[in-house]
Amino acid sequence: MAILDVLVYPDPALRAMAEEVTVFDGKLKKLVSDMYETMYLSKGVGLAAPQAGIPIRLVVIDWEGARYALVNPRITEAEGAERAEEGCLSFPGIYEEIERPSKIRVAYQDEDGAPHDTVIEGFLARVFCHEIDHLEATLMIDRLSRLKQAFIKKKMERKAKAAAATGERER
Ligand code: NI
Repeated sequence: MAILDVLVYPDPALRAMAEEVTVFDGKLKKLVSDMYETMYLSKGVGLAAPQAGIPIRLVVIDWEGARYALVNPRITEAEGAERAEEGCLSFPGIYEEIERPSKIRVAYQDEDGAPHDTVIEGFLARVFCHEIDHLEATLMIDRLSRLKQAFIKKKMERKAKAAAATGERER
């Protein structure tokens, strides 16, 4: 296993559209286990492949022991709306209240390519929505007011500059 580099905003790779996964091989399984390891080390509850600079439709999630490796996930139904605070490994130190559906239906494949169709509610639905957004190049700040977006962009750009100046990568 290997620890992947998690890209931090404003890295342009976070805006790449993810491609459909068509090959279910050992390479994909290794990537899934590397993504789990990286996510656990970073103390995240979800990680999308584009956050590691790999533009494919793959997400790993572990929230309170509910583990999912989602390949080619699509939200097919959504209902309700809930506001709650969320964070993102690509925005370290930023936590914002974001509105998400309270219940979703998701079609996806597992790492062997087997199809699944499941209904998810509550905070786990929020995690699914956040991670699937990454596959569409949508970031959590895109769901905030323009004022908040501008504030966070400035803050992140300042952090990136400071990190570059000291030759360190922010994680
Ligand atoms: Ni995220």
